[in-house]
Amino acid sequence: MEKSYARLLENNKNWVKKKLELDPDYFNNLSGGQNPEYLWIGCSDSRVPANQITGTQPGEIFVHRNIANMVVHSDMNMLSVLSYAVDVLKVKHIIVCGHYGCGGVLAAMGNKQFGLIDNWLRHIKDVYRLYEKHLDAIENEEERGRRLVELNVIEQVGDLSKTTIVQNAWERNQPLHVHGWVYDLHDGIIKDLNVSLTGSSSLHNVYKLDNPKS
Ligand code: CO
Repeated sequence: MEKSYARLLENNKNWVKKKLELDPDYFNNLSGGQNPEYLWIGCSDSRVPANQITGTQPGEIFVHRNIANMVVHSDMNMLSVLSYAVDVLKVKHIIVCGHYGCGGVLAAMGNKQFGLIDNWLRHIKDVYRLYEKHLDAIENEEERGRRLVELNVIEQVGDLSKTTIVQNAWERNQPLHVHGWVYDLHDGIIKDLNVSLTGSSSLHNVYKLDNPKS
């Protein structure tokens, strides 16, 4: 127990050493500020680390992770990250990345109680209900789970576009693309669901918000 914890600090020292060998100014440069082009909204699952699976370095991706990569519109944590990423850092792309075999999504498909987390997973049950006919028609349970993972990502992409933060960025013609991806734990490949949004034209009318200045 003690040892496994100490290993991380030891790894850190080795990492610093390697980085400095390659570039003595590495930390000097990074400490000067960040200018990431991407905001990543992913699952907390330890097997889906944003930087490693996309071959990116510290400074390149602003990251928010929670169970089942959810965009819950009353979640102050998500909204604060989103606002900072869009309004201050001016990221160009927001990526919602789900993953097949997501424990949160699979739990939401069932009826077992897991505790407090069931209230968070409720949001995924709502996605299921939205696509009930389509999902219930898939007989194979694993296939149905994979499809719900995809549909959940698509819904979160849509939910991002409904936020005041994203709508206002589009309103002021700030370049901002919202993408939906799914990572496959079995082969490490990320699938682009091709549901990218670049404006609010596809929004249901009730979600469209007028420019507060007009
Ligand atoms: Co997950």
